[in-house]
Amino acid sequence: MIDIRRPYGKGVYMSRVINIHHEPDKGSRLPDIRVEEPLTLVIFGGTGDLTRRKLLPALYALSTEKRMPEGYRIVGCGRRDYTSESYREEMLGEIKRFRRVEGSDADLKAFVARIDYFKGELDDPEAYERLNKTLGDKKTYPANRLYYLSTSPEFFQPVIGHLKKSKLIYSAGDPDKWSRVVIEKPFGRDLESALGLNREVLRLLNESQVYRIDHYLGKETVQNILSFRFANTIFEPLFNNRFVDHIQVTASETVGMESGRGAYFDQAGSLRDMMQNHLTQLLCLVTMEPPSGLASDAVRNEKVKVLQSIRVPKLDDVAKNTVRAQYAAGQVNGNRVSAYVNEDRVPGDTRTETYVAAKFFIDNWRWSGVPVLLRTGKRMAKKQTSITVQFKKPPMRLFRTVACSDDICDLTETQPNVLTFRIQPDEGISLHFATKRPSMHMVVEDSELDFGYADNYRGTLPEAYERLLMDVMRGDATLFTRSDEVDAAWRIMDPILQGWKERDASIPLHFYAPGSWGPLAADQLFQNETGHWRNE
Ligand code: BG6
Repeated sequence: MIDIRRPYGKGVYMSRVINIHHEPDKGSRLPDIRVEEPLTLVIFGGTGDLTRRKLLPALYALSTEKRMPEGYRIVGCGRRDYTSESYREEMLGEIKRFRRVEGSDADLKAFVARIDYFKGELDDPEAYERLNKTLGDKKTYPANRLYYLSTSPEFFQPVIGHLKKSKLIYSAGDPDKWSRVVIEKPFGRDLESALGLNREVLRLLNESQVYRIDHYLGKETVQNILSFRFANTIFEPLFNNRFVDHIQVTASETVGMESGRGAYFDQAGSLRDMMQNHLTQLLCLVTMEPPSGLASDAVRNEKVKVLQSIRVPKLDDVAKNTVRAQYAAGQVNGNRVSAYVNEDRVPGDTRTETYVAAKFFIDNWRWSGVPVLLRTGKRMAKKQTSITVQFKKPPMRLFRTVACSDDICDLTETQPNVLTFRIQPDEGISLHFATKRPSMHMVVEDSELDFGYADNYRGTLPEAYERLLMDVMRGDATLFTRSDEVDAAWRIMDPILQGWKERDASIPLHFYAPGSWGPLAADQLFQNETGHWRNE
């Protein structure tokens, strides 16, 4: 159903947005996807924030939706003194706080009854021997093992080393049982450390046993980029340098350094925390070539190819094409907020960036000459992740363009067609195009076709971690990052970090007001381009 509402004449109110409605899902004949094989899921970092906010609520949603296998057991590992009972009790409260799927009391009780606590230090070999003994109780703990490393990155390699040494990892070719390891981000802090970590991990495990997680890939609307591009014929022929002027990706956040996050963030900065992984993944999905199929390696091969075509920035490019900044003190929604340097657990003289914007070029047949701009920052005007593909203007200007408020219209510049993927919030897709404004004049104005998930599908969208945990339990690595993908992403990002270091005195660290769209200096990335950052 297409519902068209237009502004037309005085006193008649009509929206300028044309909403596209899709008939709500009336139930599906597709078989429900669920995990079939029994398994034991061991979470290292079992008392941490991610486990509380995301992992256990996601597993609870999967269990309430009957997607978990008949036999499964969850073991939370940590240093703190819990018994299994006290751990279950605390996690029950956390699941209630953070769950997406309500479920009944019985669902909740049945789920937490499957959780145990295991106390041990991450670097203590004896703890792994004990863990091996505990998991050896085959009646309680199914043989298939999923190890989730929700720890700080310095433990990734040691934990895998201990698991291997204590024979907690099976050989990759074992036909009867499997072991898989999920590694959280950050995967390395620069090219060298990422290469080193990959080398170590692949010495201990087979690539098929490694699942490097980037939660952005689990978001419904991120997966929709592929279906939008490759399930439609009308847009893909336009996705190239003949028609596209530029692409911009924004991931802005309003949060600062709440809950002591400053300690981690100051070691990372926005480039490592968001751009090297989440934004780069979005860039890949919107620019990659069509894969030959949906098998995990077919998709990942195309992502690697496009990453390898991105021009590696030289020192001068870093100065010209990147902007780094930090938030100053100010006000957000009438409340005073501190400058980044005064945040909890952040050193007072830090030069870590809380905002980064950068312009890249993809040197391949399809995208040659089309700038791709990425930006991300904390404490910005609003929480928003979006990808905008701005098309070129028509080669000849036949019509005059107006912008109108009711009956009052002013001449304005011709507007280009713009396609926007709203990743979050208000998930959807919109397309701007010109239409003739009803009047005796031959003038056009900008209209918008809008598709919103909320208007079209019932219920909330599944959380990224639900999808990703289910995929790893089913052995599907499509939405996980392969080692060559991580390396290729670092090859582009590492020179920026190096450039900032080498030219620290001449590449400024700008400042921006909290609640703003970042530093004005970021506008300079459009200096030789048409367009501007779309702050909407
Ligand atoms: C995480 C970053 O990976 O992503 C955080 O470490 C950031 O700094 C978060 O806040 C954003 O995720 P989302 O899903 O809220 O956009």
